[in-house]
Amino acid sequence: MSEFHSKIKTIEWHKTNDGGCSVMVDQTKIPHSFEYVEIKTLKEMYDAIKTMIVRGAPAIGIAGAHGCALFALELLKKYREENGAEFLKELYEGFEYLNSSRPTAVNLSWAIKKQKELVEDSKNIPGMTLRKIAELLIENAIKLENEDIEINKKIGDFGAEIIPKGAGILTHCNAGALATVGYGTALGVVRSAFAKDNTIQVFADETRPRGQGAKITTFELVKDGIPVTLLTDGMCSYFMKNKMIDVVVVGADRIAANGDTANKIGTSTVAITAKYYGVPFYVAAPKSTIDLSIKSGDDIVIELRDEEEVTVVNGKRICAEGVKVINPSFDVTDNALIAGIITEDGIFKPEELKEKLQK
Ligand code: MRU
Repeated sequence: MSEFHSKIKTIEWHKTNDGGCSVMVDQTKIPHSFEYVEIKTLKEMYDAIKTMIVRGAPAIGIAGAHGCALFALELLKKYREENGAEFLKELYEGFEYLNSSRPTAVNLSWAIKKQKELVEDSKNIPGMTLRKIAELLIENAIKLENEDIEINKKIGDFGAEIIPKGAGILTHCNAGALATVGYGTALGVVRSAFAKDNTIQVFADETRPRGQGAKITTFELVKDGIPVTLLTDGMCSYFMKNKMIDVVVVGADRIAANGDTANKIGTSTVAITAKYYGVPFYVAAPKSTIDLSIKSGDDIVIELRDEEEVTVVNGKRICAEGVKVINPSFDVTDNALIAGIITEDGIFKPEELKEKLQK
């Protein structure tokens, strides 16, 4: 395949003799430049997630898994075998610190939990050493990385079934290759649908305040030759009323057990508008984004970000000094507005999630 998305990995572990490091696309630079950064420490990973060098729920999850491995490598320089208990104590404190970098996307805590379980299980393996623990964390991070792409392709194939011929597909934010290790969730659905029917097209909301739709979604779709039209965030009603949108597909940061879905701020406005105009609204997400431990969206912690993301554009203040600003990064779309949740196991109605996914 020669498409852009199949040539890049948003985040990837690079192995070296001393263990390796995490290499990721710096998403704060897109579309002006496409650069990779090397992340070598826990602190650098915390900052990369917080400042959104890496972003998008599944990509943040993998960043979390990498960060755990990086910290274990750092601690190897500080502790000897006989100080195993102190090593573990500091390792787990580091895991907690990393987990606090962004609160809403559950994929981060999901991946860190998986890494912690691995370390706990390793206690039962005879001859375990601190170095072997670090190696296990690296191998697991690489495994999760590879699985992410496979999962997204399954989501794409299931999702392509609900895309009508020649459809106009509206999406919000970026749930593409660059929000995952590769291929994407909502844009994975677009990619799989486009492979079967190249008359479909995408309408991408710009996604204020950070502009992921304008900067990242249009970037990756144009590179892949998939037709895309850029909308400002208030335009969806116009396009729906004029019958240019046949279906909405968005990603998710956390889905509660009842199907309520947190995604980028502005998503619920699109869903409410879609309901009004009778346009089906779908969420595409891996099972790792579904948090069955919380009953409804009321329990989802919404990240509040710096007010400068709203008041300053391209380095210039765009509003009066003294204006009040609240900058929630996500909102929750009510389950009643969601036609289906597209996962790697199939498409479920919000009310089916608990029954189908609880093991
Ligand atoms: O703040 P971001 O850019 O990390 O928010 C990203 C989104 O809201 C995505 O839609 C979501 O994480 C799904 S990505 C497959």
